[in-house]
Amino acid sequence: MSTPQIVAIDGPAASGKGTLARRLAAALDLPYLDTGLLYRATGRLVLDAGGNPADPAQAEAAARRLKPENLDRADLRGPEADMAASQVASIPAVRAALLDFQRGFGAAHGAVLDGRDIGTVIFPAAPAKLFVTASLDERARRRFLEVTSKGLDETLEDVRREMAERDEADRNRAAAPLRPADDAVVLDTTTLDPDAAFCRAMEIVRERLA
Ligand code: CDP
Repeated sequence: MSTPQIVAIDGPAASGKGTLARRLAAALDLPYLDTGLLYRATGRLVLDAGGNPADPAQAEAAARRLKPENLDRADLRGPEADMAASQVASIPAVRAALLDFQRGFGAAHGAVLDGRDIGTVIFPAAPAKLFVTASLDERARRRFLEVTSKGLDETLEDVRREMAERDEADRNRAAAPLRPADDAVVLDTTTLDPDAAFCRAMEIVRERLA
């Protein structure tokens, strides 16, 4: 059996990895999975039940009862969902509960997946791995434009602080911390617009998948 074409896109919040991953998937005709949604939806299920996303038993139970339709909810973005996602994501049992779904998604036909640990844990043998990054100021600016365009009332300073806290938690947790895989190509998008980032990423991915 040939190795499935897996493109692993990891990186910190608002680095441009989601936009990039979606465009790569369309160009390569591969299915796309935003794995952050799994953690966001798990956090939401805990909040819906009036629980605490930092509680390992409650978070694991929510991850185990997650259904595909939970990923379509409209309330998976914004400060509360961001924080709940980051809290459940630091719990090893939650990550274990979501592992099979992610591996199964890419196993049959290949896929582009974006997240924090795709190249390090979910698909360590993926032929193409990108670690997409950008400066904190630029990422905060992008996320600020995104949240204000949705009418959320947050200042740039709030967005920057919350993002820095979440990055710090994602990088320093014991379970699947955010870091580039040894064989990932680092793509810094601080001064790249979405088209330039896409062109550069396509070059790298084409070379790796060839
Ligand atoms: O869009 P943004 O980059 O802000 O976030 P996301 O990719 O939707 O991820 C939300 C949170 O889920 C992150 O802060 C991580 O804590 C967690 N996450 C993770 O641990 N592993 C993944 N593969 C994806 C997300």
